[in-house]
Amino acid sequence: MMDFGRKLGFFDRVLEDAHTAFAPGKLLLFGEHAVVYGEPAVGLSLTKGVQLRLSPGSGQLKLSPALPAEVGKAAKSPGELLEAALGELNTRVDTEIHFGLPVMAGFGSSAALAVAALLAKNAFLQEAAMPWAELFDAALAIERRAHGQTTGVDVGIVSSGVLVGFLPGPARPHIWPIPLKRPIALVVGSLGQHGGTQAVVGRVAALKAQAPEMTQAALRTLGETSKRGEAALRSGDLADLQAAIQLAHGVLLGLGLVGPALQAVIDAAKAEGALAAKISGAGGDGGAFYALTEDLNQANALAKMLSTRPGVVAWAELLPAHD
Ligand code: PMV
Repeated sequence: MMDFGRKLGFFDRVLEDAHTAFAPGKLLLFGEHAVVYGEPAVGLSLTKGVQLRLSPGSGQLKLSPALPAEVGKAAKSPGELLEAALGELNTRVDTEIHFGLPVMAGFGSSAALAVAALLAKNAFLQEAAMPWAELFDAALAIERRAHGQTTGVDVGIVSSGVLVGFLPGPARPHIWPIPLKRPIALVVGSLGQHGGTQAVVGRVAALKAQAPEMTQAALRTLGETSKRGEAALRSGDLADLQAAIQLAHGVLLGLGLVGPALQAVIDAAKAEGALAAKISGAGGDGGAFYALTEDLNQANALAKMLSTRPGVVAWAELLPAHD
């Protein structure tokens, strides 16, 4: 088990002042849904995330931007998650939460909120920095209030702060950093909200009950795309990465997890020259997607083009090469 926070300087980066914490959102490159059935996943923490500030007060909560009404119906409120993270401290502080990325889209905003709240609490109470495993366990317990039973993949990626592989385990998952041979330029975006993680995971479970071998084969293929995708990231083989992304999207589409409006965005990204494009996260309706591009210039141009489509939020992310 790695102590990501210490090793990678994550805590130094997130604590901007004594009472403010930032935790990144996450992007699953590979392995969503398959990870529920024991297959590996690959994901990265984003430059955008959740910022949370505590000040002495009386339990007031300010959210910016305000959450869309449909999110309130489908997910636990940020207030409930915050209460779970802060405990009795919640009544002695006022909290400002800024969501720097779309919520309920598959970017792990609940996990980021949980991690940011725990880090801010830790700083506010001037406690010693939490070891990574403690932060992971506490954030996972909070996130399970939002998502019910999850594999912990969101919390694992968000709390690692880097590009990682993830394999669910009986106690804690196995999480490992993935070195990157060459820079990777992506467009990251979303169209509205996904279908609700619990509900969509339930749809896959229903299909597996109806057609066990076929569904299991599809989930195993998704696991293979995680392995092949990780190898391609390590070796810098863009053609292999492209093939893994395309196959993963095709399988998720075949499992009925890609809504038609989101598929139109994926098609547009490909038509505009993306090397590959795929949904990310639970899917099931709208939600998160990403596109692989040749370089940052192409990613910026494509993000700008996709952002002109109604309801689409898109931006470029550059993953620098690293050991
Ligand atoms: O947080 P989401 O909605 O992107 O989904 C996480 C990935 C799933 O595999 C669909 C669920 C899980 O618990 O692993």
